[in-house]
Amino acid sequence: MQTDILENFRDILGATGVLSGTDVHPGYHTDPRGVGDVKPDVVLRPTSTAELSQIMAICHAATQPVVVQGGLTGLVVGAIPQHGEIVISLERMNKVESIDPKAGTITVQAGTALQVVQEAADAHDMVYPLDLGSRGSCSIGGNLATNAGGNRVIRYGMTRDLTLGVEAVLADGTIVNSLNGYIKNNTGYDLKQLFIGSEGTLGLITRATLRLFPKPKTQVVAFCAADSFDAVSDLMSHMRSALGADLSAFEVIWAKTYDAILSDVAGVKAPVAVGHPFYVLIEMMGSDPAGDTEKFETSLAQALERDMIVDAVLSRSTAEINAFWEVRDGMAHAMGKQQPAVGFDISLSIPDMKTIEEVLLTRLQNALGDVRLYIGGHLADGNLHLVAKAVGDEPQPKGQIQEIVYGWVGEVGGSISAEHGIGTLKRAYLGQSRNSAELALMRTLKQAMDPKNILNPGRVFSMQGNHL
Ligand code: LAC
Ligand code: ZN
Repeated sequence: MQTDILENFRDILGATGVLSGTDVHPGYHTDPRGVGDVKPDVVLRPTSTAELSQIMAICHAATQPVVVQGGLTGLVVGAIPQHGEIVISLERMNKVESIDPKAGTITVQAGTALQVVQEAADAHDMVYPLDLGSRGSCSIGGNLATNAGGNRVIRYGMTRDLTLGVEAVLADGTIVNSLNGYIKNNTGYDLKQLFIGSEGTLGLITRATLRLFPKPKTQVVAFCAADSFDAVSDLMSHMRSALGADLSAFEVIWAKTYDAILSDVAGVKAPVAVGHPFYVLIEMMGSDPAGDTEKFETSLAQALERDMIVDAVLSRSTAEINAFWEVRDGMAHAMGKQQPAVGFDISLSIPDMKTIEEVLLTRLQNALGDVRLYIGGHLADGNLHLVAKAVGDEPQPKGQIQEIVYGWVGEVGGSISAEHGIGTLKRAYLGQSRNSAELALMRTLKQAMDPKNILNPGRVFSMQGNHL
């Protein structure tokens, strides 16, 4: 990179806003999957939209590619720098700017951690309902750029459903302020949707106005064991009808994953005994402190009577609620600990979830010998996480494992990414979940909004030639 560009960056951002050499610590090229191969030469840390706009104008003029970083927790290798890219970290744009409990809105800068937003809402007796295991380190900008899902989608929807307005900086530095605070605003194209879920390829999200909801007055969590998938699926229908909109999470853990959580994640205790094929975390958030626990207990008792569950514990305190959630959140850690292994985040129908373990284990073992499968996830959203590990193989036969898993996902009409996005990790398989007209339109948008291909290049799809 030319030194005069670096000087220009320093003029705009000051000395602490431009890191190079030994100041570029491994955090700028490390994600939960490990350290990336490319150490970036330069990290830019703007403190405002205006600064970011000036940086992008320079990068655009110099055809300098950038990769934008929030918490680096997306798990699809979208934020790890590639050769020649400057890192733009939004870590210093981390303020909650305003909150309006009456309107149910909060406006925050993109680098703000999700948990900070949750706590700001809580202080006003409101809730920002997006919730994921990485809440402490993931950023709102990353949540929006990947349209993150998480644990409460069943009740509140994905990030897209929680976003009213977005401000973004385009490839050439133009600031597009669409910080609308209205739920209803049918005035032409809904431009924020270009930035939500496009993984930083069409613009860099700098601020967002998000929806808040009244804080539920009660929270009760049950941890249950079930003896068959049909029982789990019946349980889901039963709890949906018994609790209605108060059902706020329905998370399922397959037996091998439960065993791995208990053995591999420090500090977690088994809420119910091992030895069953499925475990379910059910959460209710309601508005009736006098009756909610009893209502939940009655629904669970019915589920026990009808053999939908064989064991269950109900939370009696906030400490127990947290302990149950730690087991569920431990799933991501337990899956991570199986490295080297190959991970998946797929959408499937309920009947396909019933057969997934048997079908994939058979196919993988026929091809690769001893393979272990760890499965679990957001059953009510049709979204499972899956890790496949060819035992003893290092490196893993990643291509073969992906061909087999995605091959089956394709056969049953599932989606190759449910809530984590494509990044670079799943790019080669995007064509399986999107048709050629859709892919062509994506390229048209990218070409129009980032003609020099400098924004997160190669994430989602490649602009080099016609392959993904
Ligand atoms: C989870 C994250 C990894 O559901 O999506 O645990
Ligand atoms: Zn998930």
